[in-house]
Amino acid sequence: MAKLEIEQFPCLSDNYGVLIHDAAANLTASIDAPDAGAVGRALAEKGWRLTHILTTHHHADHTGGNLALKAETGCKIIGPRGEKGKIPGIDQAVGEGDRVPFGAVEFSVIDTPGHTAGHITYWGPNAGVAFVGDTLFAIGCGRVIEGTPEMMWQSLQKLMALPKETAVYCGHEYTQANARFALTIEPENAALKQRAKEVDQARAAGKPTLPTTIGLELDTNPFLRPHVPAIQQRLGMVGKPAWQIFAEIRERKNRS
Ligand SMILES: [Fe+2]
Repeated sequence: MAKLEIEQFPCLSDNYGVLIHDAAANLTASIDAPDAGAVGRALAEKGWRLTHILTTHHHADHTGGNLALKAETGCKIIGPRGEKGKIPGIDQAVGEGDRVPFGAVEFSVIDTPGHTAGHITYWGPNAGVAFVGDTLFAIGCGRVIEGTPEMMWQSLQKLMALPKETAVYCGHEYTQANARFALTIEPENAALKQRAKEVDQARAAGKPTLPTTIGLELDTNPFLRPHVPAIQQRLGMVGKPAWQIFAEIRERKNRS
C-alpha cells in the first residue's frame, strides 16, 4: 500500500474538505475545494503546500475555492472532462479510465454521472481509497440532479464493485438523516440498526461518520440493496429491475 496521509475537516454548512499528502514526493492535493479559507487553514495547520486540486463535479460547494487557492499556491486543477467549462481554473480534464499520478499513488478516474452529468470519482487502488464526491454518501447517495436514475444506478454499481475495504470519502456529512430514512426502507437490517446507533453516538460526540467503506455501504445502504427481497416486498416491487427499485428509494428520500 502506498503511504498517503489524509486530513478531513468540516467546512461550509455540511461539506467535508479533504487534503491528501504524499510526504516523500512533497505533494498535497485538496479533494474539491469547498472554501478557500477552510482549505488554507487546514494546509497551514499541517504545514503542507498545495500542489493539486482534484475536482469531482462543478457544484459551487465543491469548486468555490478553486480560483483563490490557485492564485495563492499555483496549484494544478484537475477535473471532469464532461464539465470542463464549469470548473473554475481547470488545467487538465480527465474521464473514465484516465490515470492521475500523485506521488506513490496512481488514481484511476471513474465516470460516475447522475448527481451531475460529468461527475467523476478518483479511485486510488494502491492506497485503498476512493473520493466519490456527491455520488455515494454514508447510508445514502447524491440527488439525481442532471442525470437519470438509471444512470445514477450504473454509477453506483461501479463503486459497489470496488474492493470492500476501500475507504470512501464523500462530500457531505448527511449520515444521521440518511440512517433515519434507511430504517424506513429496511427496518429489519440488524447491521443498519447497529450502525445507526453508532452514527448517533459519533454525532453526539461531534465526530465525523466518514470515511466509510464499500463493504459497510453494501451491508447498510438501502440505495445499494435493491436486490434484497425484504426491500422489494416493502416497496411492492418484487422482481422489478434494480434501477427501478433504486429510483423508487431515491424518490422516497427526496420526499422525506
Ligand atoms: Fe453536489
